[in-house]
Amino acid sequence: MSNAPVRVLTGITPSGTPHLGNYVGAIRPAVAASRAAGVESFYFLADLHSLIKAQDPLRTQRSTLEIAAAWLACGLDPSKVWFYRQSDVPEITELTWYLTCVAGKGILNRAHAYKAAVDRNRAEGEDDDAGVSAGLFMYPVLMAADILIFNAQRVPVGRDQVQHIEMARDFGQRFNHVYGREYFVLPEAVVEEHVATLPGLDGRKMSKSYGNTIPLFASPAELKRLIFSIVTDSRAPGEPKATAGSALFQLYQAFASPEDTAAFARAYADGIGWGEAKQQLLERVEREVAPLRDRYLALVARPGDIEDILRDGARRLRERYATPLLAQLREAVGLRDLSSVQLGASEARDEAHRPALASFKQYREADGRFYFKLVEGERVLLQSHGFDAPREAGQAIAALRRGQTALADAPATLGEGVAAEAVLAALAAMAAADAEKAAKAGGGA
Ligand code: TRP
Repeated sequence: MSNAPVRVLTGITPSGTPHLGNYVGAIRPAVAASRAAGVESFYFLADLHSLIKAQDPLRTQRSTLEIAAAWLACGLDPSKVWFYRQSDVPEITELTWYLTCVAGKGILNRAHAYKAAVDRNRAEGEDDDAGVSAGLFMYPVLMAADILIFNAQRVPVGRDQVQHIEMARDFGQRFNHVYGREYFVLPEAVVEEHVATLPGLDGRKMSKSYGNTIPLFASPAELKRLIFSIVTDSRAPGEPKATAGSALFQLYQAFASPEDTAAFARAYADGIGWGEAKQQLLERVEREVAPLRDRYLALVARPGDIEDILRDGARRLRERYATPLLAQLREAVGLRDLSSVQLGASEARDEAHRPALASFKQYREADGRFYFKLVEGERVLLQSHGFDAPREAGQAIAALRRGQTALADAPATLGEGVAAEAVLAALAAMAAADAEKAAKAGGGA
């Protein structure tokens, strides 16, 4: 087990045409990482996710082709990594439902993308959920299914996605707990701190929403035109120039060795003219991108080959992992073959195997303040801070029980030697027991 490769999973939302910022910030480092030893890499086109934003079928189809071709052209090798399309693995959507049924709605309410939409609506005096699709709301659950279905241990993501990975852990943990076994490995976000964000033509971050991008596969003439339109200051040739804050310089750096970058910095100090500096940048970018562009054009000219590559990836992946796992999960949740059911006996057995639930205890200390702790037998899982009123302690407990407070934000500290996961598991078990009680009382849904 110890030398089993580490599973690393990367999701790529196919939207639009990739630009140099995507290349430097995401594609290039990810392709380099896919060649590392000791990893089993999963790269997939998150086309189901793309439907949340893009609802133009022709564009969805084209973007999927373009993004697949771009990654292949940049060196992703489908004989060494798993390369597939999310919608070709229907087990992902099936798992999404199982996770939906254990995911706390309160947790989804706190997802950044959803909260931002609600905040915008409030600022405009609209209904909270105006224009918000359930797809946007459920986005984190689908993403959790992407990750958990292959038991990925590491997920390289940008800062904006870290919360989603935490949610995937939470849902996976809840499922494991509710169904009593470690079905899922809990993934970890890997945030690459050193990856440069590339400036665009106007010096702001290169981004489609600013309209300041340089397409990765622009023709040589287009590339030249765009590079020569990069904003600079008005210093004349011969005048020393500052590298700090120079978009041109940062772009150069992203395509040059440290030595060449140092030489370029000296040229700045020596007063290189902007035209000459742009010409040097153009040559750098063209040197790296030209072979990729050739491969890209050859690939998109044969879209059927890309279709075959993607289908083959998904077919092998389903056979190897997804289909057997889903068979196990169906069994786990009780979507089972009915032919062996013996009513009565099995229920009693399930009850006996249930571990003791944790519980919250509220009390007052000699300091006059009010506290709570979460205990499991003798063990203190969570110890609260002091509250001025018992009501506040009660509310903090309620928020934790309903999943409305993330553990990290709770007004409490972990018990000695207790892992956050143990607390989450205990809370999940309590929630499951509550739900069961409610279902019994109300006759179920
Ligand atoms: N949400 C990711 C993004 O916008 C894309 C994505 C979908 C993803 N599923 C994933 C990333 C699973 C990592 C793992 O960039």
